[in-house]
Amino acid sequence: AEVPILPGTPTRVWTYQAQVNAGDPAAVQPIPDSYLGPIIRVRTGQKVRITFENKLPDPRQDSIIHWHGLHTPPAMDGHPHTVVRPGERYVYEFTVTDRAGTYWFHPHPHGQTAQQVIMGLAGLFVVSDPAEDAIGLPGGEYDLPLVIQDRTFDADNQFVYDSDPMTRLMGFLGERILVNGRPDLTITAATRAYRWRILNGSNSRIYKLAWDSGMPLTVIATDGGLLEHPLTRPFVMLAPGERIELWVDLRDIPRDTTLKLVSQPFSGAEGVGMMGESGNMDHGMGGMHGQMGMMRSGNAPPLGAPLDILQVRVTRQEQETLVLPASLIPIQRHRREAAVNATTPRRIALSLRGMEWQINGKTFVMDEVAPDEIVRLNTLELWEIVNETNPGEMMDPMGMAHPIHIHGGQFQIVQRTVLPELRAGWEEVKDGYVDEGWKDTVLVMPGERVQLLMAFRDYTGMYVYHCHNLEHEDAGMMRNYRIE
Ligand code: C2O
Ligand code: CU
Ligand code: CU
Repeated sequence: AEVPILPGTPTRVWTYQAQVNAGDPAAVQPIPDSYLGPIIRVRTGQKVRITFENKLPDPRQDSIIHWHGLHTPPAMDGHPHTVVRPGERYVYEFTVTDRAGTYWFHPHPHGQTAQQVIMGLAGLFVVSDPAEDAIGLPGGEYDLPLVIQDRTFDADNQFVYDSDPMTRLMGFLGERILVNGRPDLTITAATRAYRWRILNGSNSRIYKLAWDSGMPLTVIATDGGLLEHPLTRPFVMLAPGERIELWVDLRDIPRDTTLKLVSQPFSGAEGVGMMGESGNMDHGMGGMHGQMGMMRSGNAPPLGAPLDILQVRVTRQEQETLVLPASLIPIQRHRREAAVNATTPRRIALSLRGMEWQINGKTFVMDEVAPDEIVRLNTLELWEIVNETNPGEMMDPMGMAHPIHIHGGQFQIVQRTVLPELRAGWEEVKDGYVDEGWKDTVLVMPGERVQLLMAFRDYTGMYVYHCHNLEHEDAGMMRNYRIE
């Protein structure tokens, strides 16, 4: 399709076009004027049947849809071995068992995910349930999905996706920020409360979201739905694949005021080796890494550069009495002692060896499951993701940030620690973690170790876990695990 994004020539995009059968109970909405979407709305317990038809114009573009965050059987999860060729179809049929929350879907063909997402393929999967209904959060037009992505355009307004080796290694960074597919988005709003569902749908850019005014953010949900209580944060870190929901209260904002949501600067996510004490670049080997990082996509702001995300303009007075509930939905906490390996966490080590991102020293092999990648059905496990430094690797001696995503369901984060020598960068972001809720993707900074608890239930079979920097994923920073 062609969609107008910038003034002038429309942009050629790939997009999910939904056709809903008559009498279908699922609500499917477009994100207006966008290549993104649709938004599929379902209730917990609802059975869905979705036929994916690969009509991509390029005969090399195999594809498959992954329902990110949902607890589906392996065959319904969009594992890369289930890809279909252009002209073929794949039928999904599963019951949604997840709690209410903001999930999403995107392609998952091995080696081609990054390009397909850049071209526009991504949508939202919003689940609601009676427990959430009972809270009475803002709904309808006051429940706003916001998908943040970065893109680079050529002189003819077409998307640029450079698959040069440097982009492949470090990840794509775009020159412009798009929200719901639009640049410089300004939302007009009323003096009342809103629910914002924010997805970082970027390939590799990480955001440190904050109000420009210094007002704190009120967080009500993470990847797997509502928190127990609203939390405030000075800023929120949002890595690719992660979602956060905000309660945005505009009741006391004078009319005709404009608020700005920005991404604040941070320096620890990559090229840590090149940063001096002051955060300035120094020269030598690390400096070279920094230059490589900047070379990967022309004039794109580097990772951690300050950015404007969107603006909200309060234009109408509205009398509305919705108040922020003091409690949301209880979360049953996993107990570490209940894990089958409570004292011997399953170690997931991230590293770079000879220009190849690896997990436990391995790269992705389509149907391979190593002996240490098998878990038992109906167990709770403690996993420890270790973002190692890469001594001797010229390209990335100190490592970079990796958002690690596990298919099959949601987990709980129980502990984070960081190497003393990389603490400075971590300090710049750590207050923006929201580890209190259900998660399916976790940002792991250079030198950081994250412990999480995940229960494996209902289905046996093979799922993947991977880095959600889509260039890393495509380059093989992904492995299978099997539930037996
Ligand atoms: Cu959102 Cu396997 O990815
Ligand atoms: Cu996923
Ligand atoms: Cu990565």
